[in-house]
Amino acid sequence: MAPIKAALLGFGTVGQGVYEALKTHREQLQAVLGEEVVIEGILVKDGSKKREVDDHVLITTDFDEILNIDGLEVVFEAIVGEEPGFTYLSRALDKGCHVITANKVMFARHGRTLLDKAEALDRYVGYEATTAGGTPIIRSISQLLQVNEIYSVEAILNGTSNFILTNMREKGLPFHEVLKSAQKLGYAEADPASDIEGYDAFYKLMILSELSFGETPKWEDVERKGITEVTAEQISVFKDWGYKVKHLARIRRDRDQFISSVKPMLVDADYPLYGVEDVQNAIMVETSLAGKVTVQGAGAGKLPTASAMVEDLTYVLQPHSLRRKKNSASISEEGSTEDTNSTLVGEYVVIGSSEGFHGADEVEILKQEVKGDLVYLLIECQVSTALLLEENRDLVVYEVAGKLKKAEGRAEQKDLLLKKVINL
Ligand SMILES: NC(=O)c1ccc[n+]([C@@H]2O[C@H](COP(=O)([O-])OP(=O)(O)OC[C@H]3O[C@@H](n4cnc5c(N)ncnc54)[C@H](OP(=O)(O)O)[C@@H]3O)[C@@H](O)[C@H]2O)c1
Repeated sequence: MAPIKAALLGFGTVGQGVYEALKTHREQLQAVLGEEVVIEGILVKDGSKKREVDDHVLITTDFDEILNIDGLEVVFEAIVGEEPGFTYLSRALDKGCHVITANKVMFARHGRTLLDKAEALDRYVGYEATTAGGTPIIRSISQLLQVNEIYSVEAILNGTSNFILTNMREKGLPFHEVLKSAQKLGYAEADPASDIEGYDAFYKLMILSELSFGETPKWEDVERKGITEVTAEQISVFKDWGYKVKHLARIRRDRDQFISSVKPMLVDADYPLYGVEDVQNAIMVETSLAGKVTVQGAGAGKLPTASAMVEDLTYVLQPHSLRRKKNSASISEEGSTEDTNSTLVGEYVVIGSSEGFHGADEVEILKQEVKGDLVYLLIECQVSTALLLEENRDLVVYEVAGKLKKAEGRAEQKDLLLKKVINL
């Protein structure tokens, strides 16, 4: 039988991984697909670099040459940024190809457009590799959505941040020192901004939101914070109190509104993602029937990411592959697990001047420690810490994950502002 002809856009870490995986797993793929998969062409930016590929493979900087490959069925995309990836994949779909991408920046922005186009053309878009690399989270959510509703997604989506936070805690080292060793080990890019400032996790969260809820919040409404301001002293105090700092990406849809954030938070040993360390990623999905489902694994890297793309290929080309289920934008009234009419309280650690600061509504101090000029307070208060921050501009606030609960019998005090000064 004729081989399945494929092309690769990009031949960096991921592109080379896909090329290698297709070769090393040729027999397994042939057994599943019934035919061999052959890379016929590779698009690169710099045509002068030497590429280690078979002689028959076309290496080009001209995308039209890729599209003109006779009988091309599949295009893998592993280049960087929104463009030209989006235009190339749109054109590949128009040409009748299935497309498989690892490009989260492009897919977060244009995924819906590509999926709609593919559906209209009876083609397929694989995007497992865009989110949490080697973990099968896209397929897991797609599978769950066949019957379940999804209430929330909570995840560790950036391996670099998780590695840095883990090592700061375990070795007692400051942020910049651990970042340097992450760069030496190849876990962090020379320009790590996207990882450590939370953008990478944000894009992935938006992809998961679109899949889980059929839409995303307005991007500017999502609180996004990286890990650059987490200090070794904070980590040490939190460790003594039984908490780890984790960079969490969270989204929950409550009726017609989203509650979402990407930021460092505190987790204790009861929290399901507490044990997810180093470069590992993990995603916990709360569903209507299956309850909480957690997927954990390598979030990036040459072969784990290639694995996701090659697995996508088997879904693209198999007759019983998992097809996209159009997700309705509405959620049933009883679907929400929290009642927004009652007051919710959560736990936070606030760090401020040890000379005292203004407290806000319904603050209850559970624990405190003074470290030099700073005081660390574990408090229980209403969900919004906005008032605290409004009155104490320099306050650092960490939310404790998984501690949100209804304040029984306190609803009538919802608007009460105590305005007391916490003096120590
Ligand atoms: N690395 C990971 O672990 C990982 C995991 C999941 C997802 N991803 C995503 O996968 C994509 C690729 O990542 P990577 O780490 O493989 O990047 P990379 O090592 O920097 O490689 C990028 C490749 O794309 C090519 N390229 C860049 N701009 C191009 C353009 N305008 N036209 C044609 N080719 C172009 C480059 O060509 P030259 O070789 O000529 O420079 C290079 O081969 C990114 O979107 C990334 O976010 C990466």
